[in-house]
Amino acid sequence: MEARVWSVVLMIAVALLSVSAAEEEVVVVEEKVLTLDHSNFSDIVAKHSFIVVEFYAPWCGHCKNLAPEYEKAASVLSSHDPPIVLAKVDANEEANREIATEYQVQGFPTIKILRNGGKNIQDYKGPREADGIVDYLKKQVGPASSEIKSAEDAASFFDEKSIFIVGVFPKFSGEEFENFTALAEKLRADYFLAHTLDARLLPRGESVNKPTIRLLKPFDELFVDSQDFDVDALEKFIEKATIPIVTVWNSDPSNHPYINKFFDAPDAKAFLLVNFSKEHDAFQPKYKDVAALYKGKGISFLLGDVDVTQNAFQYFGLKAEQAPLLLIQKGDGQKYLKANIEPDQIAPWIKDYAEGLVKPFIRSEPIPEVNNEPVKVVVRDSIEDMVFNSGKNVFLEFYAPWCGHCQKLAPILDEVAISFENDHDVLIAKFDATANDVPSDSFDVQGFPTIYFRSASGKVLPYEGERTKEDIIDFIQNNRDKPAQSTSAKSESEKFESVNADAVKDELVVLQCGGSVYL
Ligand SMILES: *[C@@H]1O[C@H](CO)[C@@H](O)[C@H](O)[C@H]1NC(C)=O
Ligand SMILES: *[C@@H]1O[C@H](CO)[C@@H](O)[C@H](O)[C@H]1NC(C)=O
Ligand SMILES: *[C@@H]1O[C@H](CO)[C@@H](O)[C@H](O)[C@H]1NC(C)=O
Repeated sequence: MEARVWSVVLMIAVALLSVSAAEEEVVVVEEKVLTLDHSNFSDIVAKHSFIVVEFYAPWCGHCKNLAPEYEKAASVLSSHDPPIVLAKVDANEEANREIATEYQVQGFPTIKILRNGGKNIQDYKGPREADGIVDYLKKQVGPASSEIKSAEDAASFFDEKSIFIVGVFPKFSGEEFENFTALAEKLRADYFLAHTLDARLLPRGESVNKPTIRLLKPFDELFVDSQDFDVDALEKFIEKATIPIVTVWNSDPSNHPYINKFFDAPDAKAFLLVNFSKEHDAFQPKYKDVAALYKGKGISFLLGDVDVTQNAFQYFGLKAEQAPLLLIQKGDGQKYLKANIEPDQIAPWIKDYAEGLVKPFIRSEPIPEVNNEPVKVVVRDSIEDMVFNSGKNVFLEFYAPWCGHCQKLAPILDEVAISFENDHDVLIAKFDATANDVPSDSFDVQGFPTIYFRSASGKVLPYEGERTKEDIIDFIQNNRDKPAQSTSAKSESEKFESVNADAVKDELVVLQCGGSVYL
């Protein structure tokens, strides 16, 4: 559940961060991108030692933006030596769904690099504009690690913005070198890797006298060395060294990979959201001190500019006037908020949080003063009274205002509610889950609409039937507690044939369109 919710935040973040990306149309004469489908996918993949496959859906906006860039890149790369082949699969097409499932496609577009006739599969983590795609794929098709032989090699390889992992060896053989090479194959899609005999060629050079892995990064201590060549230890070292003490979320796209890592970490997440143009310098050093203190203790720290984190505000239900603010979200979804924070309050507030002294922040819209439509409005602050303690049979829709399936359902729910108007034991209600925190110990809301029925005696059932007036009314009648009669003894599985699963799934996929933040 968490992962999916975060993918929504990430999608929004990417949408925001990429508004300036060029959206130039090209007139395609001859398509260089191969179109694959279930009939020829395996055959074509098996014939290639290196092929790139995009899984897309025709309705996905990010896929449409990518298409002309992907085609341009395919055209340039077709004359590379050896040629690099780019392909695409319509993963929305029923007949191709099996391939999408096999390749664990969870959002659109998803791009995979398949090597050795499809035997090795890697996620594409490069940029999404033509030049960037070309550069990234040229590096991917070459050796996993480049040799740095000269100052010229170094000058063309390194830049100031990326993470580089370099193995320094007295000779290119032996167990250390082999372990490094194995690691390079594994991590080549995530980082730039190189090996050299001379540490002095590296930008943050310093001689070393035994096999060393040097990780160069554009933040914090700028470079870190490790001499433990155990493959697992190396991976842990890299994982730890590549997370900044404070992740910065501003409009700079070179921060994308760190924002991505921040969201992926299982830790509690701290968001300090301030106005960078006037408050960054007052907050940053104090925040970083606290973050350094808690590094590796289960909290990750992000500093965001209010100008680019509007959707985080929306997601958490925060208001502009609450900034500068510090919000912590734990893995279980529980949130803690300090609005209008001052720089000197950061350290004591985090300390109180860590000691369990801060009360959770639960978001609710105000309880509506007038609530006389057929479908009643439930907010977080009224859910106890209206749902849990009302003694009624409640049919409750969790919706998002922007969700098309929810809009389609609204008039049907109205009719259902009208048909129960004179039945005071039944309540038809809706809950805007984008503006109110869902009580996650009672309801699991992963997509919209999610519908639950809670009987007067407290039996909670998901509604997964057809979204028609008749089916909903039948369902309520069959499952409500009737004071005079005993409750129905039909088996659960019989009642919850998920006839409408596809509609629900479509809505979930829409939620995830945009995939994740990319390098
Ligand atoms: C794969 O088959 C589809 C039709 O089923 C066709 O449109 C497409 O061009 C084929 N791709 C290749 C690379 O042959
Ligand atoms: C290489 O990696 C293997 C497997 O992780 C490990 O057993 C071995 O000790 C490593 N070699 C060196 C020199 O660290
Ligand atoms: C941030 O501060 C600048 C300068 O004071 C101001 O112009 C801008 O409107 C502020 N941005 C937000 C989102 O409040």
